[in-house]
Amino acid sequence: MFLLDTLRDGLADLDRRGLTRRRRIADTACAAHMTVDGRPIIGFASNDYLGLAAHPALTAALAEGAQRYGAGSGGSHLLGGHSRAHAQLEDDLAALCGGFVDAPRALSFCTGYMANLAVLTALAGRGTTLFSDALNHASLIDGARLARAEVQIYPHGDAEALAAMLDASDASVKVIVTDGVFSMDGDIAPLAALLELAERHGAWLIVDDAHGFGVLGPQGRGVLAQAGLRSPHLVYLCTLGKAAGVAGAAALAHETVIEWLVQRARPYIFTTASPPAVAHAASASLALIASDEGDARRAHLGVLIERTRAMLRASQWLPIDSHTAIQPLIIGDNEATLALAARCDAEGLWVPAIRPPTVPVGTSRVRVSLSAGHTLDDLARLEAALMRIDAAARP
Ligand SMILES: Cc1ncc(COP(=O)(O)O)c(C=O)c1O
Repeated sequence: MFLLDTLRDGLADLDRRGLTRRRRIADTACAAHMTVDGRPIIGFASNDYLGLAAHPALTAALAEGAQRYGAGSGGSHLLGGHSRAHAQLEDDLAALCGGFVDAPRALSFCTGYMANLAVLTALAGRGTTLFSDALNHASLIDGARLARAEVQIYPHGDAEALAAMLDASDASVKVIVTDGVFSMDGDIAPLAALLELAERHGAWLIVDDAHGFGVLGPQGRGVLAQAGLRSPHLVYLCTLGKAAGVAGAAALAHETVIEWLVQRARPYIFTTASPPAVAHAASASLALIASDEGDARRAHLGVLIERTRAMLRASQWLPIDSHTAIQPLIIGDNEATLALAARCDAEGLWVPAIRPPTVPVGTSRVRVSLSAGHTLDDLARLEAALMRIDAAARP
């Protein structure tokens, strides 16, 4: 059939270009040591930066939440699905990391992807110009498309270029949007400069801190807290499926912004609320993140990050300027990236290949994601394997 043939041609084309993706099946919980496709491996692929995904306090909270609230929410937030657990999670988030704005309020979402669609579509409609970093996450790109705003892309991390674009714009509403920690490079946006521009131009600054929340700043309160930034222009997005180890996301901002989202954000309104048990477990995760145990996990992660950077500096793969848990080894070519990931796999290490469209063409990489769940021995295994691969590749 013609329609199927078109898809088969498309799939064959992806294969020819080294762009086919394969799902691997985890047989055990997400952790540093896990069984994947029936084989034991050390995982450097997850976003479980604090090693909380299988923490007994969180699995217990999930079970307790299910006992208390059942398996599903039963409806959308505005039509019966909003539970005490969701309300508590929002209060907990506002208390933990709402310090960047007066009258902070949080709104929880099923996923970070939906939170980004919601915030961008609600704050940036027709007549708005959205200024977006060139390396922003796909969910921000899709949110910008769905918002039908005019989109201007500024070069990655380049506040000067953005300043010129803002100066030249006569849009009545301006929105700047950026990842806090960039998901594929691990570097941090120049947030102080971006905020200064937002204030000067009366623009919103939306910061997607999917990879910084839980990890950066005092008590893991994220990139804005780390940089000590505070302004009514800020909208902060965090996800709860990465360092927090559960699922979901939240937008934090002034209470008026959040009320606007409740009234107008379609990806919030027209979907079933997440299971309340998930929100209950996320609240338990926030308590861990803010605790001494959270501090200890962040400190250990910091040691792993610095060791990894030192290791990469001594190899053919120069470290990118990332001081976060995301440590990419840029290869460029798709097939060579797949080959390196396969060599790691043969060594019992899961270090995923990242290729377009996740990253720009010609910048394929393997991405090492570190977690506080890794031991120094795990890192030594990675180091030894990469050194062997590195040595084999040298003339
Ligand atoms: C920067 C960024 N924002 C948003 C998301 C989406 O979050 P979620 O996985 O909760 O949908 C991700 C990751 O998937 C991300 O890397």
